[in-house]
Amino acid sequence: MKTYGLIGYPLSHSFSREFFKTKFAAEGITDSEYRNFPIEDISAFPELLNSIPSLCGLNVTIPYKEKIIPYLDNTDPTAREIGAVNTVKFSREEGKVILTGYNTDAYGFKKSLEEILTGRKKLNAALILGTGGASKAVAWVLKNMGVEYRFVSTSQNSHLRYDDLNKEIPGKYNLIVNTTPLGTFPAVDNCPEIPYHLLDSSFVLYDLVYNPPLTLFLQKGMERGAAVANGLKMLQYQALQSWEIWNS
Ligand SMILES: NC(=O)c1ccc[n+]([C@@H]2O[C@H](COP(=O)([O-])OP(=O)(O)OC[C@H]3O[C@@H](n4cnc5c(N)ncnc54)[C@H](OP(=O)(O)O)[C@@H]3O)[C@@H](O)[C@H]2O)c1
Repeated sequence: MKTYGLIGYPLSHSFSREFFKTKFAAEGITDSEYRNFPIEDISAFPELLNSIPSLCGLNVTIPYKEKIIPYLDNTDPTAREIGAVNTVKFSREEGKVILTGYNTDAYGFKKSLEEILTGRKKLNAALILGTGGASKAVAWVLKNMGVEYRFVSTSQNSHLRYDDLNKEIPGKYNLIVNTTPLGTFPAVDNCPEIPYHLLDSSFVLYDLVYNPPLTLFLQKGMERGAAVANGLKMLQYQALQSWEIWNS
């Protein structure tokens, strides 16, 4: 049996296990399993590797996407530039296990963003709400697409603040990406505090949150005529690319 899985903490609402269970059943893959490994501290990672010799690949989620890096033998250039790993490939050479880190969040975001941009006018510039781990992959993709962006933050730093948006939004930005957890179930009445009245049909609102599928952030954008997308496609594409990496 080949074992794949997810490390993070806590893992009560993880998407990946159900995704791979469904994939294995649909494709008749009977030699593989996908398990959750909720480890309370990343220092337990080597012990996990020793205790499960059938491990062939891992996904990594909050809070270990950065903390996993020192435990890896190699990191692919995209993950290195982003500074975060969400996929670990296991290669076995002369009895030794070689661990290589990848970031498939970037691929998932790029592919799902391109889908919603099809047939639309070119992006002017983007606002990225939040400056946590996921925002790094979003920023990396936008940079590589040649799209100018600014972060919006609640913290004391050099980024835009939410109060600045009344004067910043008009005429300049037409993509707003929510990388904060605001609006995630069960706190579905929350949303980022942006001036929604300034939005119109030229805007695209992308929410990395996928539960619920229509967050308050997206609802408010839709009411102003904006095109909207949630993070479900991003999750699906990142999972599929992880599978390809593990099996390449
Ligand atoms: N769809 C996907 O494939 C996918 C992939 C990765 C992550 N995600 C989702 O993306 C979200 C963010 O993940 P993450 O790993 O980046 O989380 P994170 O590291 O906890 O960062 C979230 C950032 O959001 C901002 N924030 C947090 N609470 C806030 C609040 N109450 N009001 C305003 N801003 C707040 C903070 O930025 P400032 O301090 O700068 O304000 C924080 O750094 C999560 O909901 C996660 O599930 C989805």
